[in-house]
Amino acid sequence: MYKIAVIPGDGIGKEVVPEGIRVLEAAGKRFGIQFQWKFFPWGCEHYLSCGEMMPADGLELLKGYDAIYLGAVGAPGVPDHVSLWGLLIPIRRSFRQYINLRPVRLLRGMQSPLRDKTPDDIDLCVVRENNEGEYSNIGGKMYEGTDQEMVIQASIFTRKGVERVIRFAFELAMTRPKKHLTSATKSNGIVYTMPYWDELFRQISKEYPEVYADQYHIDGLTAALVLHPEKFDILVGSNLFGDILSDLTPALAGSLGIAPSANLNPEHEFPSMFEPVHGSAPDIAGKGIANPIGQIWSGAMMLDHLGYPEAAKAIEDAMQVVLEDGKTKTPDLDGGATTQEVGEAIAEYILR
Ligand SMILES: NC(=O)c1ccc[n+]([C@@H]2O[C@H](COP(=O)([O-])OP(=O)(O)OC[C@H]3O[C@@H](n4cnc5c(N)ncnc54)[C@H](O)[C@@H]3O)[C@@H](O)[C@H]2O)c1
Repeated sequence: MYKIAVIPGDGIGKEVVPEGIRVLEAAGKRFGIQFQWKFFPWGCEHYLSCGEMMPADGLELLKGYDAIYLGAVGAPGVPDHVSLWGLLIPIRRSFRQYINLRPVRLLRGMQSPLRDKTPDDIDLCVVRENNEGEYSNIGGKMYEGTDQEMVIQASIFTRKGVERVIRFAFELAMTRPKKHLTSATKSNGIVYTMPYWDELFRQISKEYPEVYADQYHIDGLTAALVLHPEKFDILVGSNLFGDILSDLTPALAGSLGIAPSANLNPEHEFPSMFEPVHGSAPDIAGKGIANPIGQIWSGAMMLDHLGYPEAAKAIEDAMQVVLEDGKTKTPDLDGGATTQEVGEAIAEYILR
């Protein structure tokens, strides 16, 4: 029996999470996996009524779970840095979820905005550093409101932090047919942290002679990904560069609504967290039309992490069949189905 902490969060998070659970229950039934779901009503509504995104003992409460299944947080009226730093970042950091893994595939039945690109051309995985780098809370403001006003935000790159994410990416590359790892850098403009990143990348690459390792400056890499996504396989980047790449690449695969992510503590010392890449989408929240596939695919990643790759594959296959069949698609994919209908179609296929 797996104890899963569920945080639906805000907006469409509350609509897609039930469909993710429906599909996980179906996979559980087929593969003999049992779940105990515990719901935590944290997020921006909680903040507006209690002044905090989660209770002070929130992390303590989550610690004992096998995994965390999250929808999305964010709402108009609550600044985005409050929702991010009040919930997601404390979970990612306290639980040493130092890998943010985002697979990107152009599934059959999806249309890439890139003319002529087929599923064989877009099959990537972004490995983003998730605990340090440019997203630090070290810095400050001085002489505010005067003509000497200044602000500093420090980037933090530790040897341990850089080595472990790069090594994880090489290990992942080893499992893929192409065995190609690309590092995102910007060592021409950022002259301390990025040459340091590059040096560690070069050193670690010597341990993996089977992997073809190369590096691109982040600006050139974004252009190359749009022009020739078929040239890439695994991409590794710092917190900021990984963040940029993991919005760009799902857009190439057709919709943000299908993109999954895993915040991993690979050593299993703490629970890992699984969430779609998209946010709370206030523009469509409450209409029942959000695409639940990003949430469902994140559930498949959770099963993989818990040691059930076959069950994870069954979910991915069912998503693929429903998309290819084309009858049950949400409006972001030019269909007319509801969030629930897509969840039901995928769950039914798994149990067929
Ligand atoms: N991890 C997270 O919880 C997370 C991630 C990104 C943004 N956010 C927050 O979400 C809020 C909205 O942010 P945003 O508008 O920049 O990004 P968003 O991802 O919520 O929405 C961007 C666009 O994509 C569409 N979209 C997103 N998910 C979809 C889905 N599943 N199905 C169909 N269409 C979908 C939305 O309708 C919108 O037009 C903000 O408060 C932001 O901080 C949270």
